[in-house]
Amino acid sequence: MIQMRSIVKRYGEGDTAVEALRALDLAIEEGEFVAIVGPSGCGKSTLMNIAGCLDQPTSGEYLLDGEDVSALEDEELSRVRNAKIGFVFQSFILLPRTTALENVEMPTMYAHHAVDDGHERAKKLLEDVGLGQRLHHLPTELSGGQQQRVAIARSLIADPAIILADEPTGALDKRSGLEVTAIFQRLHEQGRTIVMVTHDLELAAHAHRIVTLEDGAIASDEPVEEPRDAEAELAELAETAEEVASA
Ligand SMILES: Nc1ncnc2c1ncn2[C@@H]1O[C@H](COP(=O)(O)OP(=O)(O)OP(=O)(O)O)[C@@H](O)[C@H]1O
Ligand SMILES: [Mg+2]
Repeated sequence: MIQMRSIVKRYGEGDTAVEALRALDLAIEEGEFVAIVGPSGCGKSTLMNIAGCLDQPTSGEYLLDGEDVSALEDEELSRVRNAKIGFVFQSFILLPRTTALENVEMPTMYAHHAVDDGHERAKKLLEDVGLGQRLHHLPTELSGGQQQRVAIARSLIADPAIILADEPTGALDKRSGLEVTAIFQRLHEQGRTIVMVTHDLELAAHAHRIVTLEDGAIASDEPVEEPRDAEAELAELAETAEEVASA
């Protein structure tokens, strides 16, 4: 699905140039759930932006779903992005004076995405992330975890093959972070390819593979033998909360 060869990304020029990615090789198969970890500044977001066709590498080859996208013009790049990629960011980025339902439906109102049943699809996606009772709430009327679930529903509206999530739980408490992770685990079970950046190693252990970046290159790339189960951990948290309440 994602095939990168010798990807270099350089920002700036001359003395102040920064090489954010240094000849990085990475292949991710269809249906994988991969966590990307590593210290601040190691190149995680740079990698995600290139993987998601938001940015181009300085050099190297990138095949996305078999198509060479490393040298596409902006317009072509956005076509590929809209068709294949769903994004989730740390800061949700919902439209403020717009309801949950409208936020999810919005992309279908543009011609390049137009789908007839956008409204119904948006409703269904919000129900799937547990927000069937919050369709007409504004972002300010939702908790951070709920806003992130709206953002996940929105990322799925064009039915992308890949979800790229850059620190999706970075602004959330433990329980909301687990809820978001449980949704990614479910999407993965349904066959979607998921790539999630996180600095939380406990959350990374819910993925099936952990890629560690260091200074713009891959320092390790390991399968997770027994991925943790976010749904089960949420049930445990709920039990503990009940015990505390009844004590
Ligand atoms: N637009 C830019 N212009 C110049 N340098 C940049 C730009 N974006 C990133 N960099 C540099 O590239 C390197 C990698 O940045 P990147 O944002 O990919 O790191 P990261 O791993 O996502 O870090 P964090 O965990 O803090 O989000 C850093 O040294 C950063 O300063
Ligand atoms: Mg980052």
